[in-house]
Amino acid sequence: MNILAVESSCDETAVAVVRDGREVLCDCIASQVALHREYGGVVPEIASRKHLEAICALADEALLRSKLTRKDLDAVAVTYAPGLIGALLVGVNFAKSAALSLGLPLIPVHHISGHIAANYLAFPELTPPFLCLVVSGGHTLIVDVADYTQFHILGTTRDDAAGESFDKIARVLGMPYPGGAALDKAADGGDPGRYRLPVAQVTDAPLDMSFSGLKTAALNIIHHAEQTGETLDVPSLCASFSAAVTQTLVPRTMAALRQTGYQKLAVAGGVAANSHIRAAFEREAAAAGVSLYLPPLHLCGDNGAMIGAQAYYEYRAGHTADSTLNAYATMPIDA
Ligand code: KG4
Ligand code: ZN
Repeated sequence: MNILAVESSCDETAVAVVRDGREVLCDCIASQVALHREYGGVVPEIASRKHLEAICALADEALLRSKLTRKDLDAVAVTYAPGLIGALLVGVNFAKSAALSLGLPLIPVHHISGHIAANYLAFPELTPPFLCLVVSGGHTLIVDVADYTQFHILGTTRDDAAGESFDKIARVLGMPYPGGAALDKAADGGDPGRYRLPVAQVTDAPLDMSFSGLKTAALNIIHHAEQTGETLDVPSLCASFSAAVTQTLVPRTMAALRQTGYQKLAVAGGVAANSHIRAAFEREAAAAGVSLYLPPLHLCGDNGAMIGAQAYYEYRAGHTADSTLNAYATMPIDA
């Protein structure tokens, strides 16, 4: 089954063709990152307009690259939630029109379930049930993936997402948007014990997380250095910050894994590219004797292939939509 998959929830216009949920025939991305960099973050209005400009040509390119014609497609899939509403609407409207004009089924996909499904593309042997930590710019979730389309949230952030806090600190340190990857690199050679940063505990919710106190503490260190003229040890601050985020995410994920009794642990989302988080999971998974699934970096960030992977399983579960499909800025994955 060849699925044309569309993703436009944030600042990447992406169209992919995925066969049977596991084989990527092409994964085309038109990134707007450079454009938003000028403003230090995503400007929603600009994002929508750029999606609108890019999407038709990108779909043509996807067919060309996958060496298919429109007749070879079996379904059209699209991210319909959550994300920037204007951005989502461009993808949803395009996918509806494509499905209608080609007489194909339309498959709505939740963005977070797409991130989780990126693991199916990287690891053909991976099947549910498993535990997945989803860490992106907008979401931080510990998810029990009971089946391909059945999710239970075991832990989440009470305030900022992990990626959001990386981006904020990177921005204040003068790194270009989105700063997560730059901060990760800047931490090379730094001393993670140099700056004391808090790892918050949420009372009575041991699997929940909080990043706002950590963010504020790091900002205070930066501002204090500015005000006193003290030279900031940037690599060590980045290393200390990455260590605190890692200390928030990894022990909770391992505790959730023990709670479920699963032997399989996956990580997903843009922040899954972080070298400290990856290294910590490698150590912990080896110590616990469980299988670890860390997608390659190109499948961590937003892409169309992950939407095509999840769409196959949504279709098999009978989850298709008609032309009344709408987009939603927020929607829980376990609704
Ligand atoms: O999944 P994604 O592409 O978009 C969302 O759905 O949000 O995630 C983007 C996030 C950004 O916050 C970006 O800074 C972060 O992932 N990110 C990283 C790294 N690479 C990307 N954060 C920390 N370390 C990295 N190496
Ligand atoms: Zn994403």
